[in-house]
Order: sequence, then C-alpha cells, then structure tokens
Amino acid sequence: MNWVVFGAQWLHILLGILWFGNSLVIAAIVIPAINRLPILTQREIGALLGERATRVFDVVVPAVIVLGFVRGTFLGPIKDLDGVFGTAYGITWFVALIAAIVTFLWGKIAINGAVRTMNLSPLNPDGTATAELEAATDRVKLVAVLELVGFLVIFTCMILMRFGL
Ligand code: HEM
Repeated sequence: MNWVVFGAQWLHILLGILWFGNSLVIAAIVIPAINRLPILTQREIGALLGERATRVFDVVVPAVIVLGFVRGTFLGPIKDLDGVFGTAYGITWFVALIAAIVTFLWGKIAINGAVRTMNLSPLNPDGTATAELEAATDRVKLVAVLELVGFLVIFTCMILMRFGL
C-alpha cells in the first residue's frame, strides 16, 4: 500500500464529495423546501447560502482539482502529453480536469452573478416581491441546478478511470 497515494485519494474524495454533494443537496432538498416560503425569505436564504458557499468552495474546489491533477500524474500513470492524449485513461482525466474548471467557473460567474442580480432586484412599495425579483430568484434556482451537468461529467470520468479507461 502506498500511503501517499492513499492520503491524496482520501482527501480528494472527501473534498469532492463536499463539492458535488452540496450541489445535489441544493437541487434535491434546499430548493424544493424553500420554494414554499415567501419570495423575500427565499432571497434572504439564497444570499446567505451563496456567501457561505463562496467562502468554502474557493478553498475546497482548487484543492479537489490539484489533488486530482497530482493523483493522475505524479501519483498515477500520466507522465507526459502522450499519456494524456494517447490513452483512454489520459483523455478521461483531461475531460474531468476541464469539466471541473468549467463547473467551478460556472459557480463563480453564472451562479454568483444570478445571486447578485437577485439581491439587487427591487421590491414593490408595499414590500412585496416584484415580477423582476421573482424572475431573478427563479434564475438562481435554474443556474444552480444546471451546475449538476458538470458534476455528472466529472463523476462519470471518476468511475471510468477506476476501470482504467
Ligand atoms: C466533483 C469533483 C470530483 C469528485 C467527486 C471526485 C471523486 C473521485 C472518486 C470517488 C474517486 C475514486 C474512484 C475509485 O477509485 O473508484 C476519484 C479518483 C480519482 N480522481 Fe476524482 N473526483 C473529482 C474531481 C476530479 C478531477 C477534477 C480530477 C482531475 C484533475 C480527478 C482525478 C482523479 C483521479 C486521477 C483519480 C484516480 C483514478 C484511478 O486511477 O483509479 N478527480 N475521484
């Protein structure tokens, strides 16, 4: 047993679960649950979740990616460009790498941007939500759920690499 590989993979999987799991829980549990609340409460919860998630995932995601990079290269079979583009394992690893970077940027640009727009959307004079705020809140939910597409690609790559592909 190589304990360095063991440790790197242990941390990689733990942090990867935190990142992917957060997205699944938001889509399957948090959004359906808060859909029953008044739109202003939804905005408050969305803003707080977004703020906390940004602080946590700005550290966790680069760590997942760096560990995945190291696990495939220094601690894995990929030793040169031929190992990346000339083998099924290398191509799968590369797809995971790109998908993770795109998914991270999606969170930073599309999701954070939608949360910002939601926070800036106006209220009616009587304090109720405007149509603009309702649309902005729906948009936050949509871009958060779409993030799952990136995770499905990454997750599939992890399973394929397990089988050497
Ligand atoms: C959401 C992000 C990620 C999650 C949840 C995740 C999860 C996992 C899991 C569960 C395994 C163990 C698979 C097994 O042995 O059955 C694994 C292995 C691995 N991951 Fe990831 N991973 C993520 C992102 C990445 C990224 C971005 C890369 C590449 C840069 C990567 C590279 C690897 C490599 C090389 C292995 C070892 C595969 C092997 O040779 O068996 N991972 N990952």
